[in-house]
Amino acid sequence: MKKIIVSVFLALAYMTSPAIAQEFTEKYRPQFHFTPKANWMNDPNGMVYHNGIYHLFYQYYPNDKIWGPMHWGHTTSKDLVSWTEQPIALYPDTLGYIFSGSAVVDKNNTAGFGKDALVAIFTHHDPVQEKQKTGKHETQSIAYSLDDGKTWTKYKGNPVLQNPGISDFRDPKVRWFEPQKKWMMTLATKDRITFYSSPDLKSWTRESDFGANEGGHGGVWECPDLFPIRHEGKDVWVLIVNINPGGPNKGSAGQYFLGDFDGKTFTPNSKETKWLDFGTDNYAAVTFANTGDRNILMGWMSNWQYANQVPTDPWRSANTIARDLGLKTVGKEIYLTSFPVKELDGLNGSGFSQKNVKVKNQLDLTGRANNKTGLFRLDFNAKNTADFAIVLANESGNELTVGYDKATNQFYIDRSKSGKIDFEKGFGEKHIAPRFATGTTIPLTLIADVASVELFADNGLTVMTDIFFPETPMSKLYIKSASGITVENLKYTVVKPSVR
Ligand code: FRU
Repeated sequence: MKKIIVSVFLALAYMTSPAIAQEFTEKYRPQFHFTPKANWMNDPNGMVYHNGIYHLFYQYYPNDKIWGPMHWGHTTSKDLVSWTEQPIALYPDTLGYIFSGSAVVDKNNTAGFGKDALVAIFTHHDPVQEKQKTGKHETQSIAYSLDDGKTWTKYKGNPVLQNPGISDFRDPKVRWFEPQKKWMMTLATKDRITFYSSPDLKSWTRESDFGANEGGHGGVWECPDLFPIRHEGKDVWVLIVNINPGGPNKGSAGQYFLGDFDGKTFTPNSKETKWLDFGTDNYAAVTFANTGDRNILMGWMSNWQYANQVPTDPWRSANTIARDLGLKTVGKEIYLTSFPVKELDGLNGSGFSQKNVKVKNQLDLTGRANNKTGLFRLDFNAKNTADFAIVLANESGNELTVGYDKATNQFYIDRSKSGKIDFEKGFGEKHIAPRFATGTTIPLTLIADVASVELFADNGLTVMTDIFFPETPMSKLYIKSASGITVENLKYTVVKPSVR
């Protein structure tokens, strides 16, 4: 009972805390994806569910809209779709900038800060030492909050994990490992992952390394995550490793490994390099802590290849829609699936559905959709696989194409004619993704905001997230197929802007 009262109180406190008034009328401003009101944002950090509130912290530079000395910005939500920006949680200090990391709920008061304290575990990045090339400029530190994330106190004994001489030594993701009653830290250490354990979040012991000879190595390993998902009667451990550059369509991307974890060592069950998302705009994606059986993923909807140049003002970057993760066996392999959280349905507006639609050449949905803003969700099953494309277009002649190519058995997103592309030479390209599912019907969900599309094909077996910058809203919508397809269970839904 006491717990319920506390959570109701905290939920109310957050609701009534002065929400930062925002018009959100600026060009390219996403309407149902989180963006900071102003200035630079990158990775999601410290995502944790506590007392009825989802907390999202993020890499933030409050003085400019390019990357700079990193802080942890903070925003909260009750439903993962409507966010209220909160005051900055962590500021740089004498140990350095506040780089990426995670947060946990210390239910057993292992650290001694208080029962149920929120504890943030992050990287201190010291720019002075970086210049001196000591190779030891990144260390791990902690901070705690006893008022549900409103204010934070940095631990006096920081850093809690010194650097042994590895130039990239960062982005701790911590979780409780119940079988051995200890904390596990998954840390990105240049070209591999190092696991550490701790009884109290303050003293850490190295357990093992993973990955020097596994997966993609086209860039540095960053922002990892480790958690189990129950699949066919047993726990499969998922190890997410973000990598920059070296993604499947260039630049930044997230790969993952599946296997076993025994509190010391991660043992992969496959040699295949697997990707969370084949689009170019889902980086540093990790999961929320303390969400029970749900594993909820959210990423930074940009790419280091052009993040500092995207034509938005006065802010830069948005996050992806939150996604529930699952596992699916296809042949001998298991893959991760991601699908938009059901909470997104709370934004559903008007729409229409149709059972069986034959598409030969072109089906123009613009009139029925009657949607000037171009914020929508489209679900359908494409029967008897053949080439097809979904085209978003506008009055300015911009086009964004999301499609399936039967000959190569690939999905794609082509943003080469999608509007403003000239701010970076590699931006206006076509991105491709393999199809893993084998059925002749392709179920498909597409989520479109002002400046992004997120494709969930085959119930989330193949995912692509791409941003784009149309000159005017993408108010026109077509399904095209030269050879012809039958579209089953077509459902078009307007997505309303989220409340801020
Ligand atoms: C990933 C990353 C992290 C680092 C942070 C700095 O995008 O490079 O490795 O902690 O961004 O802002």
